[in-house]
Amino acid sequence: MNLGRVRAHAPGRVNLIGEHTDYTGGLVMPIAIQLGTTIDARLTDEGVTLTTDLDTSTVSFDRIPGDPSTVEPSWGRYVAAVASVVGRDRDLRGIDGVITSDLPAGAGLSSSAALEVATALALGAVGPPSRIASWCREAEEVATGVPCGIMDQLVSAAGVAEHALLIDCTTLEIEPVAIDEGVEVLVVHSGQSRSLADSAYAERRFECLAAEQVIGPLARASPDDLDKLEVLEPLDHNDLVRRRARHIISENARVRAFAAAMRAGDRREAGALMTASHRSLRDDFEVSTPALDALVDELTATTGVLGARLTGAGFGGCVVALCEAGAVPEVGTRLGWVVRASGGARVESD
Ligand code: GLA
Repeated sequence: MNLGRVRAHAPGRVNLIGEHTDYTGGLVMPIAIQLGTTIDARLTDEGVTLTTDLDTSTVSFDRIPGDPSTVEPSWGRYVAAVASVVGRDRDLRGIDGVITSDLPAGAGLSSSAALEVATALALGAVGPPSRIASWCREAEEVATGVPCGIMDQLVSAAGVAEHALLIDCTTLEIEPVAIDEGVEVLVVHSGQSRSLADSAYAERRFECLAAEQVIGPLARASPDDLDKLEVLEPLDHNDLVRRRARHIISENARVRAFAAAMRAGDRREAGALMTASHRSLRDDFEVSTPALDALVDELTATTGVLGARLTGAGFGGCVVALCEAGAVPEVGTRLGWVVRASGGARVESD
């Protein structure tokens, strides 16, 4: 019986500013990009079969596997986890098709979030972008064990062309902010694939929690609250929790200032805030690497670049640079992309 076809597309993302703030309910400002993942499938009543055009590996299951985190090939874990999480709340349809993607994996451009959101839509999940994103965020955690925030999945689901999304990760309220016509966004790969990111990510999250136990939600804390963390000092001679909290508090302030600068067309200020964000991620949050630092230094010393910072979780991956339109530097032998703020995920059935 012909049940029809589905085509679901979900974009990757680049975060302009607001890094490691989402899991403390803070502010982020990512864009969905023109690179993404598409699932083209026939609808069936027999579970899920998906093949990637990359290496023709296939994931196939009739019923949802008990533990999605052990599915092989490993990209199939995201598919199985989405089926398992969404399938808990909704009846899902079967699909048999092909995944294509122009998003590089492991670069920090959220190829996994794009796969999750495309899978959810292809399986027939319906709901507002925040609902789709919550399911997919949970699926990411089920698939990988990493307790990630909601930024990647939410911007993939809700992206708006030519706009960055100012997202309050406590309320999930989204305010699209127009990208100044005088700028272009360049993403450059450091050449270092993300390493240590998973264990260090969970560790940072735990350190933020330690600060919150003393001063309450970091999303609502002010720099003055940092002094209250003195009670932790006997346990922490390096001032570590204080520095982690200082990054989150200062980063939330930078996101607000960045949104204001974008609205006012103050490109220099927007660029300076991005570079300041990188320094805070390097010194206070310690998620940068020498390769990322060197790339940020090189880019910020280049004519036409207004500011640059690591983007995503850190520990390798990409740097994002805000450039004067028409003055985007060459990236030499590195991988680089001029990215455009694009619309969010979409699905068509026939
Ligand atoms: C990863 C996570 C996001 C976010 C960023 C850091 O991309 O998936 O939830 O925490 O790191 O800002």
